[in-house]
Amino acid sequence: MQILGIETSCDETGVALYDSAAGLLAHNLYSQIALHEQYGGVVPELASRDHVQRILPLITKTLADAGTDKQSLSAIAYTAGPGLIGSLLVGTGVGRSLAYALSIPAVAVHHLEAHLLVPMLEDDVPHYPFLALLVSGGHTLLIQVYGVGDYKILGESVDDAAGEAFDKTAKMLGLPYPGGAAVSALADKGRAGRFHFPRPMTNRPGLDFSFSGLKTSVLHTIQKAACDEQTKADIAHAFVDAIVATLLIKCRRAIEQTGLTQLVIAGGVSANKQLRLGLHDLLAQMQGKAFFPRAEFCTDNGAMVAYAGYLRLQAGASAPLNFQAKPRWLITDIA
Ligand code: KG4
Ligand code: ZN
Repeated sequence: MQILGIETSCDETGVALYDSAAGLLAHNLYSQIALHEQYGGVVPELASRDHVQRILPLITKTLADAGTDKQSLSAIAYTAGPGLIGSLLVGTGVGRSLAYALSIPAVAVHHLEAHLLVPMLEDDVPHYPFLALLVSGGHTLLIQVYGVGDYKILGESVDDAAGEAFDKTAKMLGLPYPGGAAVSALADKGRAGRFHFPRPMTNRPGLDFSFSGLKTSVLHTIQKAACDEQTKADIAHAFVDAIVATLLIKCRRAIEQTGLTQLVIAGGVSANKQLRLGLHDLLAQMQGKAFFPRAEFCTDNGAMVAYAGYLRLQAGASAPLNFQAKPRWLITDIA
């Protein structure tokens, strides 16, 4: 069975081909970072227009890379939400039209579920049930995963997402959009101990997160300090320390609460090397194991959509052609 995956929920056009017997056959990504960089963030109207231009050539290239053609496809999986509505409509429209023309199913995929399941494409996979930390530009969630589509949210951000905190801190430090990787690289040049930021919501029980206060602390520090390059690096260092420490405290708590010792980390911020290292050590200390997607599948991509679509079909998901794209869509509300 061959499934074409289409991702257009935000600022990356991703297309991939997954084969149920041979695994991932091809995947391509077109990132719009250069387009949005000058505005310091994603401009939704420009994003959707660019998806329109990129999507068909990317599908043609992906099929050619895999040495196959449209006629061999068994299904199309497309990201139906959550995300920017204009961008979602491009993938939704193209995916469903192609499926209709080929008389094959079109599966609506939940973007966060795709992030959550993509670590399963690696050689070493977790077994259900496990914990998942989903840290992206728009979401921070701790989830108990019982099986495909069977999720219990243990904690979530009450305000900014972890990735958003990275991006806003990057902006304050004068780094280009999107700032996660740049803040992380600058933090490497920073010295420990010069600045200290709060670990929000860690001194009270529960598994929810809050990152907007941390962002404000960073802002006040930048305003007070003489911001030479070394100072900026020292601030970045303290910021990454605070965010990683906060995520580690909540993950430890979730492991203790549930007794589950397998933890999947997914979403754009899971590319962060300080976080990967910290979680790897934490799980080793707790006689457990951390599972990460490979670096290129941490951020948005088509492979995760093709694979999630495959698992959904396996689980008997229906594929109605009139499915409404959903800019807001809870992972616990997948039909
Ligand atoms: O999952 P993703 O590609 O898109 C969403 O679904 O939101 O995540 C993008 C987020 C951005 O906030 C970006 O700054 C962050 O992931 N990110 C990182 C790193 N790479 C990407 N944050 C910290 N460290 C990184 N290396
Ligand atoms: Zn994403």
